[in-house]
Parts: sequence; C-alpha cells; structure tokens
Amino acid sequence: MDCSVPDELVNELFGEVVEGLPCFCLERWQSLHETSAKVLLSDSGVHPLTVGELSEYGVDLSKISGLEVGYGWTKGSPSIRGRISELYGGAVGAEGVVVTNGSAEANLTSLLSAVKPGDTVLVDMPNYMQIPGLLRWVGARSIPLWRKPPSWRFPLEDALDLMRKYRPKALFVNDPNNPTGTAMSEAELSELARESENVGTLLVFDEVYWGSELHADRPSILEVAGVEHALSVSGLSKVYGLPGLRIGWVAGDKRVVNRVWGVKDYTSIAPSVLSAYIASIILESGNVKRLRERARSMVRTNLEVLKGVLALGGVIDPYWPEAGAYLLARIPWSNDTLAVSYKLFKEYSILINPGECFELPGYVRIGTGQNPATYGKSVHALINALKRMVETH
Ligand SMILES: Cc1ncc(COP(=O)(O)O)c(C=O)c1O
Repeated sequence: MDCSVPDELVNELFGEVVEGLPCFCLERWQSLHETSAKVLLSDSGVHPLTVGELSEYGVDLSKISGLEVGYGWTKGSPSIRGRISELYGGAVGAEGVVVTNGSAEANLTSLLSAVKPGDTVLVDMPNYMQIPGLLRWVGARSIPLWRKPPSWRFPLEDALDLMRKYRPKALFVNDPNNPTGTAMSEAELSELARESENVGTLLVFDEVYWGSELHADRPSILEVAGVEHALSVSGLSKVYGLPGLRIGWVAGDKRVVNRVWGVKDYTSIAPSVLSAYIASIILESGNVKRLRERARSMVRTNLEVLKGVLALGGVIDPYWPEAGAYLLARIPWSNDTLAVSYKLFKEYSILINPGECFELPGYVRIGTGQNPATYGKSVHALINALKRMVETH
C-alpha cells in the first residue's frame, strides 16, 4: 500500500506550536481536511441542527432583531446560568456556573485556574488530548491513567492507588470518554469522589458527551461528588448538535468558578450574545430531553447500519460504544493508521480520525452521529475503500 504521509503534514500534526505546546493533532487533522472531504465520518457530535430547525425548539428568531449586539453578560446571563444549573439536579446553583466559548475554552480556563508549573496531576488517557497538551505547556507533572482494551474502562483501582500515593492537585477525566466511547458508572464515580475527599484532589471532568449514554443514564460528577471536590465542563456542541454556537460552561464551587471567570477575562471576555440568546432557550428542560433523545436515536440507528455493513465481512474490529457519537476500532492489518487515514482522504475523499492523534496507533475513530439519511452510503464507501486497501496491502 503506497500511502506515504507528507513530512509537512506530520510536522503540523505532531510538532510543537511553540516551545512546550504540542500541536493539537486531532483538531488540526480535522481543520485541514473536513472542508474538502466528500464523505465525512470524523465528527464526534451528532448532525447539527439548522437555523430553521431552532424554531421547533421555541427559538423565535424574529426576537433577535431587537437584541443589542453588545458584550452582554460576560459570564453568561442569570437565566442561562440558571438553566445550566438545573441540568445538575440542584448540585450547583447559578452562581457556580460560568458560560464559555465552547467546552474547549471551558477546559482551557479550568486548567489554567487549577494547575501551576510543577503540580502533580493524574490524566485519563486516551482522551480528546486538549488537556494533556495544555498540561505539558503549563509544566505540570502529569501521570497518565490509561484505559486499556478490550474493555477500555476507566482504571479505577489504579486511580485510587495513585491518588493515595501522590495526593495530586487534580485528576482530569474525560467521561463519557472520547475516543473509547466508555462511560463510568455511578458506583465508579462515587468511589472516586470518596477518595478525592480523603486526599484533597480536585476532580475536573470534561463531560461534554454527558447525556449521550445509550444504555444507562450516567449522573454528572457534580451530582455525585458535590461542588467542593469537582468541576464539570460541558457544552452544546456534541449531544445537542449545536457546535457553531460555541457555547460551553464550567460548573462547580463558586470560588473556583470565579477563578475560571478571571482567566476568561483574558481569553474571550464573553460568549456571543446571539449564541447565548439561542442557548438560553435550547437549555429549557423539555428541549434538553428532546435533543438528548434526538442524539441517542441518531446514534442507535447509525450503529445498527454499521453493524449490518460490518456483518458482510469485517476489515475493522469495532469496540461498540456506550456513549458519544463515535466508535473506536482497531485496524487489524496495519499499525500505521495515520497512513491508512491519509490514503482514505487522498484517494477516496473519506475522512475518519487516525488513532495516532490519541496516541493509539493501530486504531481509528469513526463518527456515528452523522445524518442517518446518508450514513449507510458513507459507511459502505468507507468499508469498501478499506477492503480495497487490504487487498493491495
Ligand atoms: C472531550 C471533548 N472536550 C471538548 C471538546 C471541544 O468541544 P467544543 O466544541 O464544545 O469546544 C471536544 C471536541 O471534540 C471533545 O471531544
């Protein structure tokens, strides 16, 4: 298989942005390819809503014409923060919420407000990889906690042992996990919460896929650990199908969240007033329920389609997910999944994500939240292309 990846691309994915800050492989891979690939199976959220569809959720766009395009409430209006606090079933009040530009800014600002150079922290791996990259830049002493195949479950016992041994400043978890699609149980969250209280470790959870669980609902870490010991990062990009609004948030103890707000003064100041207006309506509880169900239904339908296509003869070994809008799969016939993904893009115009962006060579991440009307065609194209690649391998 001739699939050499240009050095320039390798540098752009795996080099450094500035000294100490690794390139964000996953984000750059997507930015470089997603606007030109014909078959998109790379997104990790569900198919986005159109502006027109927003009216089905009570968003009256005619009201926008009267909206002043000012800075608005820099940490989010009381009403949007109140609605976000309701998602946590009373575990946090509106004063413990700050609205950010996507969960990406929520991760950045929480990390910068919680960690300083030399701090020891534990990090859930694999993960979206924003947090590990930023921790390297800040100069923290990061200890990875690897989820391993075949279960890919969060290594709870290792986490508890390391918390007792090092009393780390923070434990960064991405759950439901991207890219493994596994989700922790309430019992597992409770054990972590108990230990974090004993040793004084802050649990910083990126829960942007919370609400996409396919089998059993998973509570937020805040509902289990309480605000004294945990911060929750989430947003509207993935489960709610609204990534273009760039609305995320951090929820937790008021004092900690105020520090997050202080860091946000340096990054983006405020969320867009247009997005905040739409988000405040989308976050009404009836809409939250409907959109979570929309996401689950799309992913369930697509997973059935994928199962059917793979039953015809597999060229990938899938790990069927419990949550998220993506699936992790092993490529049994090649460990160079960057080259496989690059060839898929170059020769077939199909975009998936190489495992190398998650430090998982030999694996790929495939989206499962795309429009169900075209998903079957897309996965047929993917599997046929992979079959052709195996034949020439
Ligand atoms: C785990 C995780 N956190 C954060 C983000 C960033 O999301 P947002 O679009 O809300 O900034 C992503 C995007 O893929 C993600 O997978």
